[in-house]
Amino acid sequence: SNNQFCDAGTAYGKLACGTATAPTSKILIKGGTVVNAHHKEVSDVYIEDGIIAAVQKNIVVADDVKIIDATGKYVMPGGIDPHTHLAMEFMGTETIDDFFSGQAAALAGGTTMHIDFVIPVDGSLSAGYEAYVKKAERSAMDYGFHMAITKWDDTVSREMEVMVKEKGINSFKFFMAYKGSLMISDELLLEGFKKCKSLGALAMVHAENGDAVFEGQKRMIELGITGPEGHALSRPPALEGEATSRAIRLAGFVNTPLYVVHVMSIDAMEEIAKARKSGQKVIGEPVVSGLELDDSILWDSDFHRAAKYVMSPPIRAPGHSKALQAALSTGVLQLVGTDHCTFNSTQKAMGIDDFRKIPNGVNGLEERMHLVWDTMVASGQLSVTEFVKVTSSECARIFNIYPKKGAILVGSDADVIVLNPNSSFEISAKSHHYRTDTNVYEGRRGKGKVEVTIAGGRIVWEEEELKAVPGWGKYIKMAPFNYLFDGLERADAEYLSSLRAPVMRSSIHTT
Ligand code: URP
Ligand code: ZN
Ligand code: ZN
Ligand code: ZN
Repeated sequence: SNNQFCDAGTAYGKLACGTATAPTSKILIKGGTVVNAHHKEVSDVYIEDGIIAAVQKNIVVADDVKIIDATGKYVMPGGIDPHTHLAMEFMGTETIDDFFSGQAAALAGGTTMHIDFVIPVDGSLSAGYEAYVKKAERSAMDYGFHMAITKWDDTVSREMEVMVKEKGINSFKFFMAYKGSLMISDELLLEGFKKCKSLGALAMVHAENGDAVFEGQKRMIELGITGPEGHALSRPPALEGEATSRAIRLAGFVNTPLYVVHVMSIDAMEEIAKARKSGQKVIGEPVVSGLELDDSILWDSDFHRAAKYVMSPPIRAPGHSKALQAALSTGVLQLVGTDHCTFNSTQKAMGIDDFRKIPNGVNGLEERMHLVWDTMVASGQLSVTEFVKVTSSECARIFNIYPKKGAILVGSDADVIVLNPNSSFEISAKSHHYRTDTNVYEGRRGKGKVEVTIAGGRIVWEEEELKAVPGWGKYIKMAPFNYLFDGLERADAEYLSSLRAPVMRSSIHTT
């Protein structure tokens, strides 16, 4: 038996204490509309031993098979969240949701895989990797790793190669903000981009001008603005737009693909739109908070209510979220993450006298599928197939794990959800499955509900019952050279031949 995860003092709502043995190994999902990124069709789905074994109409099975009736509902690939921070040590504390509690919540919301950011230990990638392997030991669902690069020397360069070739990491993130802790220089950004390119790894950026943010923070403190509103005022959209533009231009200069995480403003989005229009390989990731929320609550007179919305880049003024939704619906932005990074009220209160000390981050891992469905699909901004693309398939393609993940196809991993478009959801800290005590979407209701989650061939969420078991999740290795690298060599060769031939100069000078 396995009851380590029923630890005292944690609240998982209706969480059954399951066992690590005897999972349901044969499941038939009958009569639903099976949705992939480019096609949907009424079909049955048969699952055996964690793999999708058949997708066709009228599958007949023996008595020992568990049957789920999905008539009138959508059968889709489980969500993949490209951007989470579980058990992350940050701003003098550690996120309250660890790999297990965050993943349990994710499963209840229809997400069956996430990619978390390994933070190096004193710049050491291998030490960071080992630390995250430990953090993820109790995983209840599949996960992968990105890795941050926080300093530069020969060891880091060598370790990047080890991470890609041996450890299954195919993306590296560069923080252009958080001066004094994670922030790196343009020089490092260039070195990192070059190394990423040579390894076929995807470069990712947190794009804000960290020096200007530091200046903006000083300005607010000098003006006596110490509350959460100072967070938004100190780092306006222009600083996100500037860093996004700089990262894009430097990636273009190196000629390597770029992934911009948490696009929060029109300013940043327009830089991505411009680069893509010119043919540059740039991926833009909006996060749920950016698509859903506006910054008005940062001016709430109650510090605790306001502080829970503090994240970076900040949640923006009304208008930005609508523009980001439109960008997602037209393909300017390609996939939705959460940047799930939770701190409870006590942790947020570290910044009660100074907004610079409020730990940055909001929730989203459990809510992402529901909110994207309600805001984007139920509203007519995305089709049902596009929903699968932005919540699952595109992430799997970018991180090179498609169609093992991100598809309902024979041979794919059995990470499957059943979503009922006629049912509805309501979000509250009272009923969510996180360990944290607040929820930035408190009271939000909407249309469309994940009624069943199957992860690795096991039913982990059904009839409002969560069965998340430590050890059921596996580490997913991700190979380098995703589709964005196709044809890159030719582009490099064309660049070289486009340079004018060197002039043969004589050493004899005449006047
Ligand atoms: O506020 C945020 N976003 N916290 C997590 C760290 C990061 O910048 O992604
Ligand atoms: Zn970030
Ligand atoms: Zn993040
Ligand atoms: Zn000369």
